[in-house]
Amino acid sequence: MNLSGNTLFIPGATSGIGLALARRLKDRGNTVIVGGRRAEPLDRLREEGFGAVRIDTSEPQSIAEAAAQVIAEYPDLDGLVTMAGVMVPEDWHTPDGFLQTAETTVVTNLLGPIRLIAAFIEQLRSRPQATIITVSSGLAFVPLARTATYSASKAAIHALTEAIRIQLADTSVQVIELVPPLVATGLGDTAQNPRAIPLDDFADDVIRLLEAQPDVREILVEQVEFQRYAERRDDFDRALAVINGATGR
Ligand SMILES: NC(=O)c1ccc[n+]([C@@H]2O[C@H](COP(=O)([O-])OP(=O)(O)OC[C@H]3O[C@@H](n4cnc5c(N)ncnc54)[C@H](OP(=O)(O)O)[C@@H]3O)[C@@H](O)[C@H]2O)c1
Repeated sequence: MNLSGNTLFIPGATSGIGLALARRLKDRGNTVIVGGRRAEPLDRLREEGFGAVRIDTSEPQSIAEAAAQVIAEYPDLDGLVTMAGVMVPEDWHTPDGFLQTAETTVVTNLLGPIRLIAAFIEQLRSRPQATIITVSSGLAFVPLARTATYSASKAAIHALTEAIRIQLADTSVQVIELVPPLVATGLGDTAQNPRAIPLDDFADDVIRLLEAQPDVREILVEQVEFQRYAERRDDFDRALAVINGATGR
């Protein structure tokens, strides 16, 4: 992906990682359309010069309407970043402790990106060069027990990304997976976690990696390698204990 001259839709960019990347991509000469459920940040971001479209990625109808609007207003659209996600703790001792959260998590974190890609794939394929960036997590590779379904949803995003990249290899669409480590944002209790890395540092690193390697498959900042390569190092059990707070590094 070249870092300028694109027209990108980022559902899930009213805050956090999505907004930090949206700002940097806009500064580099891309047209960026941010999406999310909350009207107030969308209005504010529209005034800052972003395109802004209301979307609830847990609702198929909302995805279809937002996609129609984005494609009509931005016929040059050549990028989709499936950023929107939720992370909510679960207690698997009783169904009341997890079932509803698990279902919502799968709908938002897994079905959401699938439905988004379905809504945009023909538009993206019609462009000479296009990009889909999916968003998994270090927890796709070493799960966090208290967010079991979140971790599973991100493992699914990883597998999905690997598979569709192969399918779409005969098209103009490049498929990239962003694999964030723990970053201090509004997601779950990440802002309170002393291990979380600052959002601006992470976003700067992502842009630097994309710039250095335009054909990258996975965007991996240094801090996520501990989880990403735990199996490869034959270190999964220790990494699982560290991530779940049973032991320090
Ligand atoms: N922070 C981390 O440590 C971390 C680590 C690994 C992966 N990630 C992933 O990075 C992505 C962004 O997370 P973040 O940390 O930046 O969290 P965040 O600050 O809470 O931002 C989440 C974004 O997703 C949007 N969103 C959530 N549910 C939505 C829905 N149903 N429809 C539309 N938009 C929705 C929110 O907008 P509205 O509220 O306006 O809808 C917001 O813009 C997520 O996929 C997350 O899983 C984060």
